[in-house]
Amino acid sequence: MTSQRILTGITPSGTPHLGNYAGAIRPAVEASQRPGVESFYFLSDYHALIKTDNPERVQRSTLEIAATWLAAGLRPERVWFYRQSDIPEIPELAWLLACVTGKGLLNRAHAYKAILDKNEASGEEPDAGVSMGLFMYPVLMAADILMFNAHKVPVGRDQVQHLEMARDIAASFNHRYGGDHFVLPEAAVDESVATLPGLDGRKMSKSYDNTIPLFAPAATLKKLVLGIVTDSKAPGEPKETEGCALFQIFQAFATPEETEAMRTRFAGGIAWGEAKEALFSKLESVIAPMRARYEELIDEPARIEQVLKSGAAALRAKYATPFIARLRKAVGLRPLDHIPIVPPGERIKAKTTQPQFKQYRESDGLFYFKLISSDGRTLMQSRGFTSPLDVGQTIADIKKGKDYKPWVERASIISDADIRQAIDAMNN
Ligand code: TRP
Repeated sequence: MTSQRILTGITPSGTPHLGNYAGAIRPAVEASQRPGVESFYFLSDYHALIKTDNPERVQRSTLEIAATWLAAGLRPERVWFYRQSDIPEIPELAWLLACVTGKGLLNRAHAYKAILDKNEASGEEPDAGVSMGLFMYPVLMAADILMFNAHKVPVGRDQVQHLEMARDIAASFNHRYGGDHFVLPEAAVDESVATLPGLDGRKMSKSYDNTIPLFAPAATLKKLVLGIVTDSKAPGEPKETEGCALFQIFQAFATPEETEAMRTRFAGGIAWGEAKEALFSKLESVIAPMRARYEELIDEPARIEQVLKSGAAALRAKYATPFIARLRKAVGLRPLDHIPIVPPGERIKAKTTQPQFKQYRESDGLFYFKLISSDGRTLMQSRGFTSPLDVGQTIADIKKGKDYKPWVERASIISDADIRQAIDAMNN
């Protein structure tokens, strides 16, 4: 049995904070130590270009994040640890995938739609501030994943749609070029991992400017912890643990027993100052050894460069280079020394026709439609309509992106991905 391949990307566009550690880094390092998995962790620096236009920041953040993962216990000799931009096969694959991706699919991306809505609300041009990089983001992400045929992709909720798109894109490619080139990847959203609150009690996030950097010097860490927002209960008054940022951060770093002991102290009216001291010393005890390793690593950027470069080189040799060669061949980017002979005057016939909706009437007197794929398969079949006008209107609505499911016999749906792809193809 082949092992499960788990892959995830970390975009180097900022400084890692406690939330990143508890929510992503720590669970990933733990997962990478389980037997029977082949793990891929990479710095998605091409993605970073979409989020920032500051070159120094990209470089600095790449160094910091690589050092963080290594300091947190990732073992580059046991997992694939690399930088996206060291694997030129990834952007090459992104182009091959772009050619089987309907623009309509990308139009539906939540992140993109959110910008459209914002622009509309403020009276801007719909696409103001949208680069092609941002628009194509899901395609590049699909390439990251499909390049290594990952089975599972641990991501946050906000990335689940991108995984659905990666599956759609993989299915289109497999379908168009015949064969099972790509594994259809699945999102793994771990509900049990903590999303940490930040200094102000909202989710800890760069965008709220409420983060606690993971490797801030001890004095800074202490100052930040003392600044965590609490209610105004006096010492001696019992304190709520529910919804208390201080308590939640403590819990994410403490053992269950320590957490229970703290809960008791809250009920017993611990002073906020004392609770903050306790949180600081808990954090410091977990972080200090990692921070020491981190500082050593940061001082030797050439060593980190070496780790990343050799990860990428080995990975290209084992997977990326042979795989892209196979894909190039599949799509027709082939050497010219072996070419099927076409008799003079005969043109190579176009293989595919457009997918299409067909309307028809059954012997029950009702009107129906079905969707035929470009290779002649029936992808779905409608319920009976009494009026042919309703059939026409429904088809028009579906083409415009309305949900088709209410009009279609459930059992007739061959594949949601194929249907959406066919509809996108018709609209292009
Ligand atoms: N888009 C992800 C994020 O912003 C990062 C990422 C890039 C990624 N490529 C990926 C995650 C591939 C998983 C798989 O968090």
